[in-house]
Amino acid sequence: MHLPTYKEARTMNKKPYERKAFLLNPELKHRYQGTYHLKTYGCQMNEHDSENIKAMLEELGFLEVEDYEKADLVLLNTCSIRENANNKAFGMLGRLKHLKEENKGLIVGICGCMAQEEKVIQDILDKYQWINFVVGTNNLYQLPEVIAKVIESKQQQIEVYSREQDLVEQLPVKRDNPYSAYVNIIYGCDKFCTYCIVPYTRGRQRSRTMEDILNEVDHLIHEGYQEVILLGQNVNAYGKDLAYGYDLADLLEKIALTKIPRIRFVTSHPWDFTDKMIDVISKYNNICPSIHLPVQSGSNQVLKRMGRRYTIEQYLTLFDKLKAKKKNCAISTDIIVGFPNETEEDFMDTLKLVEYCKFDNAFTFIFSKREGTPAAKMKDNVSDEIKEKRLQQLNEVVNQYFLENNQALLGTTVDVLVMGTSEKKDGYLYGYTDTMKLINFIGEKSMIGKIVRVEVIDAKTWSLDGRAL
Ligand code: 5AD
Ligand code: SF4
Repeated sequence: MHLPTYKEARTMNKKPYERKAFLLNPELKHRYQGTYHLKTYGCQMNEHDSENIKAMLEELGFLEVEDYEKADLVLLNTCSIRENANNKAFGMLGRLKHLKEENKGLIVGICGCMAQEEKVIQDILDKYQWINFVVGTNNLYQLPEVIAKVIESKQQQIEVYSREQDLVEQLPVKRDNPYSAYVNIIYGCDKFCTYCIVPYTRGRQRSRTMEDILNEVDHLIHEGYQEVILLGQNVNAYGKDLAYGYDLADLLEKIALTKIPRIRFVTSHPWDFTDKMIDVISKYNNICPSIHLPVQSGSNQVLKRMGRRYTIEQYLTLFDKLKAKKKNCAISTDIIVGFPNETEEDFMDTLKLVEYCKFDNAFTFIFSKREGTPAAKMKDNVSDEIKEKRLQQLNEVVNQYFLENNQALLGTTVDVLVMGTSEKKDGYLYGYTDTMKLINFIGEKSMIGKIVRVEVIDAKTWSLDGRAL
């Protein structure tokens, strides 16, 4: 049994990571029969981990079922970015407890970010002894062995390492989308923004080698993928932990030269965004004009307390450069309101920033205290009521710009990667523009999986309507 601690999670790594290839113990291959249900919470990194988890479970012999009440094994891939993410998973655990009272053989497991929280593990040991296993983010590749141990020993297994392990390559993968593929380029984060739990739950920053990434991209091109989405908590730090001297700009250029039609990357920390990166992004048309650039706050005082390492002036210089150099660049962001002691003036600075940037998309949140992070200990004089009001006010402003940006596209022609038939609109297809806008449009089913030209005929806050040309 390995249990995580916040103290250990806070330590920085000095030694280089060893690359290892995933290998399933041949004795476990298709050893079990039964069904599984996997529930995924949180970000794209978790969604992609779930694609690996599904493949690992299927190598063990389990088959996926849609209804968790019909499964022999239920696994929750959890998120801990804000308190309500934890609450959702605990709510699900409540339902699973009832299910387990009726079906004693049901196996319930937890993985993902909550598995790395010291407090969550303490709660599981004290109050949730019926949970069969927990596997951490740093040793997800051990999932098949942990499940085998649960089945053979019938004892609770908790295998969570506070610190990242070596970098494991070649995990099996069952991708959800046949046209657009997630590709991890860097794991973890070293920024330690004061509100954020990610550096504790995902460990220190570790980049995959360019060779491993390019091999994966080549493979995806061969399989007919139209788009890769490069993933990392902070992709702009790519390569900094490696001794090879290459960075995100070099990686993007190499991938652009493969001629894959679309390349996206998320998430970018402004502090690590260099001019060299902007030049490469501007040079290649297959690097999408869509950048997720979280600002978090429009106030320099708040940014300082958040440990974001840039001022609003620096953010705006970067923002302006991207807009000037990359044609039609859409910029989206994340904003937190109600950070401890955020004043009305600080909040007004955030509104002012939004009015200047007119973001194409913005994810807005109320600050949530995460135990183990420095901001959780900061004094806070802002009431919940004020925080709610600020969020509402901010949402009104950001929504107005989503609509305005969409309206600006009326009558123009956009390139759309067609994902399938629309569930909401009969007879319509849906897809995404290169600026990540959702568009429903009238077209032929044979267009699915391709990039087609579409005329924009209607614009709403959250989506566009169109007609294929
Ligand atoms: N409270 C509220 N929002 C948070 N985020 C990260 N940590 C917290 C927190 N403790 C937001 C940030 C980040 C996004 C992924 O989630 O805006 O960019
Ligand atoms: Fe969290 Fe992002 Fe800051 Fe890293 S850069 S600590 S993931 S908010």
